[in-house]
Amino acid sequence: MKPQFLQPSTIELNARALQNNIRFLKRVAGDTVRISSVIKGNAYGHGIASFLPIAEKAGMDHFSVFSANEALIAIRHKRKKETRVMIMGMVRDEEMEWVIENGVEFYVFEEARLQAAARVAKKMGKKALIHLQIETGMNRTGFEEENWEETFKKVKADESCFSLEGICTHYAGAESAANYFRILNQDKQFQKARVLAEKILGKNQISHASSSAAFLTLPEKHYDMVRIGIAQYGFWPSRETFIHHIKSEKLEEGYDPLQRVLSWKSEIMSIKEVKSGEFIGYGNVYLAGHDMTIATVPIGYTHGFGRNLTNTGYVLVSGKRCGVVGLVNMNMITINVSHVRNVRKGDEVVLIGNQGQDEITVASFGEMTNNLNYEVLTRLPESIPRICADYN
Ligand SMILES: Cc1ncc(COP(=O)(O)O)c(C=O)c1O
Repeated sequence: MKPQFLQPSTIELNARALQNNIRFLKRVAGDTVRISSVIKGNAYGHGIASFLPIAEKAGMDHFSVFSANEALIAIRHKRKKETRVMIMGMVRDEEMEWVIENGVEFYVFEEARLQAAARVAKKMGKKALIHLQIETGMNRTGFEEENWEETFKKVKADESCFSLEGICTHYAGAESAANYFRILNQDKQFQKARVLAEKILGKNQISHASSSAAFLTLPEKHYDMVRIGIAQYGFWPSRETFIHHIKSEKLEEGYDPLQRVLSWKSEIMSIKEVKSGEFIGYGNVYLAGHDMTIATVPIGYTHGFGRNLTNTGYVLVSGKRCGVVGLVNMNMITINVSHVRNVRKGDEVVLIGNQGQDEITVASFGEMTNNLNYEVLTRLPESIPRICADYN
């Protein structure tokens, strides 16, 4: 038998927390609005292969990815026949055949992709399942207003090649009220495009525009489907959205209906006593001001534990907060465990998540910015194994 060794750390997914979040999101969405679970960026670091089956089990049946390679992972790991996968970004021409063959829905946001989809669908004798993306002011991808009519007419003329599943857009920055008028203008444009699409193509397609922030703050913009990423993983898109929700629902201050799905854990590799006056680790970054017990933990910046946490980050051991002392190395950190009783090699170290009464949050991984949760999560390396404790 080949030897098999554990990785220095693991990411645990909490299926119950996910069920809780999906229940909450479905309650906000109501009965008529479908939720697409956004699993791009390796399911925001949770791992598509591990996350998708537990999300399916919790009631999700539509998943949004960025690219064909992510769609391939999603298709391989979905367990339910009726589950749909939608690509919101990259499909190379040479990937189109696989996409159509496997009934994967995909965004069409420019003429070249529309032509490629028609060409491949015709050759295969199978319809491409497309969502037309409308440029409404995000200025990233999407058909410009002057091309709407021509595009809708082409889709109509090529009905044997296309099944128009949806018409969609993406709001720019709904996580901040400062962008409110930009969002309203975007929405006006989107409605204009929908009216024209209905006139030319009828009303078989669905409309979707909102991601977590717009979903949680602008209920009148839900349309037929919403694309939810960060909220399903238990994070608010911004503090502003959280406070907005608490106030509009008249909830107790600080009450959070979302629960974190992900924890990141490692273990103590070694323990050492260091005398007062000694430096710890490379250079003179940390000077022991008193006799200390320190422990090494086998994770470092190669695993996504950033160098910015040098002398400032915290982890949990036996429910106690332990500070990182000295530089974060490529594969190791040293932590101060002087105050942890009976500390031992092999003890669990929580890098993100709960232990005892305390929690290390993703936000504590750097300075607070709106995008921090997204960035820290998606940077967690794919090589760390994802396990789900309470899923069967
Ligand atoms: C087109 C699109 N829809 C939906 C989402 C999901 O956003 P969120 O994670 O804020 O819900 C994203 C993420 O960036 C996106 O690019």
